[in-house]
Amino acid sequence: MKEKTGVAVLASGRGSNFEALARACLDSDYPAVIRVLIVDSREAGAAAVADSFGIECVAVDCGAKKGSMSPESSERMADVCADRGVALVCLAGFMRIVKGALMTGYRGRMLNIHPALLPGFRGLHAQEQALAYGVRYSGCTVHFVDEGVDTGPIVIQRVVPVLDEDTVESLSDRILQEEHRAYPEAVRLWAEGRLRIDGRRVLIREGE
Ligand code: GRF
Repeated sequence: MKEKTGVAVLASGRGSNFEALARACLDSDYPAVIRVLIVDSREAGAAAVADSFGIECVAVDCGAKKGSMSPESSERMADVCADRGVALVCLAGFMRIVKGALMTGYRGRMLNIHPALLPGFRGLHAQEQALAYGVRYSGCTVHFVDEGVDTGPIVIQRVVPVLDEDTVESLSDRILQEEHRAYPEAVRLWAEGRLRIDGRRVLIREGE
């Protein structure tokens, strides 16, 4: 059997997408394996999820500036990934803009999941933005990471309806269910070598 793709997940929060990926990796046919979880705070719920799956968790202090990472922390993360043979980095609720050594080292090999249909409602509180705007449909997007905020080429989008009675919580829950399907699917496509970035577009080759 082909060697599995080593993945690092970066998270700052509760870690439900990390958990969805970890679950997918339990399947012996799944082409990826999570080598490490990197958190920017030990307090992140994702750290406890890593414990429960027996996945190594490394905390990296990214500096005091909210939403940003120091050059040293980026280098440290790149080193942690390289040491563990990580081929693909997955941001899953990681609340800092990636730059520096990690960005350079993993360009085209880094994915993020966003709880809206990009390019609409980028940045924070995407579900609240969608509700306030009055869209009838929202969803989630898995995309490659570039220097911008939620601007990289799109791999997968999944759509959910927005209902009249929705609150931010109910809409977020509906979107989250789709996130938990979309992210493992996107990682599978990447690990199977079926994604090709062509400018802004991502072309997906048919599976065998
Ligand atoms: C998700 O909604 C994801 O799309 C966004 O941050 C949230 C993280 O949730 N980037 P979780 O920590 O994976 O539960």
